[in-house]
Amino acid sequence: MTAHDIVLYGATGFVGQLVAEYLARHPEGSRFSWAIAGRNPDKLNALRTSLADAAPEMIVADTSDRPSIDAMVSKARVVVTTAGPYAEYGGDAVVEACAKQGRHYADLSGEYWFQRAMIDQFHEEAQRTGAKIVHAAGIDSVPSDLGTQFVIEQLERRGKRAAQVKALFTDYAGSFSGGSKKTLEALEQLPKSGKYDAAFCSDPYVLAPRAEGKLEHETVTGWDRRRFDRDFRALGVPFFMAPINARIVRRSLALSGRLPCSYAEGTSVGAGLKAGWLWMSRGLGYFVGAPIPLSPKPGQGPPEWLRRAGKFRVALKATSATVEHAAMVDVRGRGDPGYLATSKILGEVGLCLALGHEEAPRSGGVLTPALALGSVLRERLAATERGEFMQFRVLAET
Ligand SMILES: NC(=O)c1ccc[n+]([C@@H]2O[C@H](COP(=O)([O-])OP(=O)(O)OC[C@H]3O[C@@H](n4cnc5c(N)ncnc54)[C@H](OP(=O)(O)O)[C@@H]3O)[C@@H](O)[C@H]2O)c1
Repeated sequence: MTAHDIVLYGATGFVGQLVAEYLARHPEGSRFSWAIAGRNPDKLNALRTSLADAAPEMIVADTSDRPSIDAMVSKARVVVTTAGPYAEYGGDAVVEACAKQGRHYADLSGEYWFQRAMIDQFHEEAQRTGAKIVHAAGIDSVPSDLGTQFVIEQLERRGKRAAQVKALFTDYAGSFSGGSKKTLEALEQLPKSGKYDAAFCSDPYVLAPRAEGKLEHETVTGWDRRRFDRDFRALGVPFFMAPINARIVRRSLALSGRLPCSYAEGTSVGAGLKAGWLWMSRGLGYFVGAPIPLSPKPGQGPPEWLRRAGKFRVALKATSATVEHAAMVDVRGRGDPGYLATSKILGEVGLCLALGHEEAPRSGGVLTPALALGSVLRERLAATERGEFMQFRVLAET
């Protein structure tokens, strides 16, 4: 019994509430039904009250109580979940129920060890049932993943294969939440935890275990030191989100038959300076009466002024094997990347899965945003807020 197009699980968390607010005032609101879900009925009730007229149904479900998760999933065409860190909060229960019941799923996981476990356990089952399980459907890793697909398509339109893609974030202004802090701590601690060996933790293809065409000298991010990049005319340094994004991009490359193709992702020094200026020009938020929490707890995150003032931009270049052919694109967007922008991106991924666009790739499995939705998502994001939210632009072709 499918009662709702979208069930938003983890709705009471920091990002979950932003996604709920986004869905509640979505211009296509009359086209879809949705519900909020979480483990705490009091918090859900408070959220529902704050959403006023939207008044979505509430579903209480806890990952430690499998039958409650199965029942929640049975009511959903698509489950969108922000209850993370996912490995820590038993997120596998939600993926398993979606894979078995053939319901689509999208999350914000940046935990590659969780994603790999989901691939190992549920990819084949999801292929059988047609469920699209989409990890990393926020700022990590949608701009990198769709941007790579977009830049490669510029070469392929001319009959050329890409041998190399590099990406540089030249804007990334925002902050982080309690949930993201926990995820980043887990990412840092993983090699010391003893749960996974060094080869697993440093495998650039950890999300594409059986791929053909892996490159021997590829590193996790491909951008391991400070260097001036002539194409982007910027000083690039390693990017803290690249270990997440690069692995997702390589799964997309592998499953779309685009390997061998190297991928490198960094950030510019300028992006860091601009983000620093945004923080300092408002006195870390003290000048505007809403300080940025520097050590946020679960449920906390950047204040509204920063969510609105933030922005992101990633430039990407694809080059063919003979280096004669190249294309350059950029993907840019408004709003704090991890929060205001992520809540819109995840909301649109959910809607894209729910509204069943005919043109989207059809088969199920544990996928990436580019594999599950591709250009359909790109077009949807480019149309969001009448084109004011995100843009995908071709900058140059040779
Ligand atoms: N990919 C991206 O671009 C991106 C961007 C931002 C955030 N994120 C990720 O999004 C996730 C959420 O971040 P956040 O800042 O919103 O975190 P948060 O405010 O701490 O929210 C976490 C949510 O998980 C729920 N939860 C906690 N423990 C649970 C359990 N044992 N079982 C079921 N649910 C549980 C919480 O419920 P209660 O309210 O009842 O405590 C809450 O709804 C994190 O994994 C973060 O890394 C990713």
